[in-house]
Amino acid sequence: MAVEKKKKADVPEALNEEFYQINLDILESFSKYRPPLALFRFKEDVARIMPFCKGGDRLTNEQVELLPQLVEEGLMFVSRADHSIYVKHISYQLDLVLVDKNLRETEIADIFAQALTRRLSEFFDQPVAPALAKLWTDIMVLTEYLFHDIHRVRALIRRLHPQHSLPNHSFNCGVMGLALYARLHAQRFEAGDVKRKAFDHLAAGLFLHDLGMSKLPAFIREKTKALTPEERGKMQRHPQIGYEMLTKLDLRFAEVEECVSDHHERLNGSGYPQKKTGANIGENARLCAAVDAYCAMTVKRVYAEAQEPMKVVAQLTQDPGFDSELTRQLQAMVLANAAKPK
Ligand SMILES: [Fe+2]
Ligand SMILES: [Fe+2]
Repeated sequence: MAVEKKKKADVPEALNEEFYQINLDILESFSKYRPPLALFRFKEDVARIMPFCKGGDRLTNEQVELLPQLVEEGLMFVSRADHSIYVKHISYQLDLVLVDKNLRETEIADIFAQALTRRLSEFFDQPVAPALAKLWTDIMVLTEYLFHDIHRVRALIRRLHPQHSLPNHSFNCGVMGLALYARLHAQRFEAGDVKRKAFDHLAAGLFLHDLGMSKLPAFIREKTKALTPEERGKMQRHPQIGYEMLTKLDLRFAEVEECVSDHHERLNGSGYPQKKTGANIGENARLCAAVDAYCAMTVKRVYAEAQEPMKVVAQLTQDPGFDSELTRQLQAMVLANAAKPK
């Protein structure tokens, strides 16, 4: 006999200010007997929200049985005050971002920043296929989220990391690169003309562009004094090392390879490692080069203070090594972003 589904309860609108309703996907992501945060139940008879359990509490068998039912009826909530615990929880299972209708855009941006930076860090610590698979999955959640409404990238570029580290820098470049791409192709996005695969692969290329750096000893990466010629030689091999790593990891998408191997090439031939020029440097690599330089100069490093974003973009527009159309658009984007409240 079919069980009749209960209809959703009427819950006062005002509740959403302090709480948000959870759905079955979210519930299933919690440990069955020990939810990671306090749950609240809306009691229809008294029209009030009451505590159901504390975070980390062990639930009774009765509660465990009752919970899915209450969730289906729309009666279960978590407090927005537990935002930080919830963000952390969701960041481990990022696809929940796509099904949770209650999260605000700024909350989602926090979750992506946390999740992707952690995945990048895990992958750079151990650049092997399983870590790449996890990172890849999360990058694809991001592209799914952005492809649906590309303007969402704006909340993400307000969450750039201010301090340098390889994962922080990679996150910053990924987000800035996608934002710049969105700006360059705004009309094509509107017309539904952007190819999803190309967008996915560019995103992966941007986040992974410096993967070769993970093989360099930290003392070279973080050195506060000028590098010796030998150290500089090693450092400048990172695009090539990265390319070799992609081959070993069997990641063979043209956009990713281009970002990884050519992001230090410059249009006037002043770059490395191949000293390519002009038309020999593809669009993806040009974009990656511009945001890479911007991201490197605007954060605090062990050997240099962070530089003013507007000064950096102005400098880049004058640099013949970069694509002037790209640097002009980057300048306009940074200017527009600076004018908005955080
Ligand atoms: Fe690099
Ligand atoms: Fe870089």
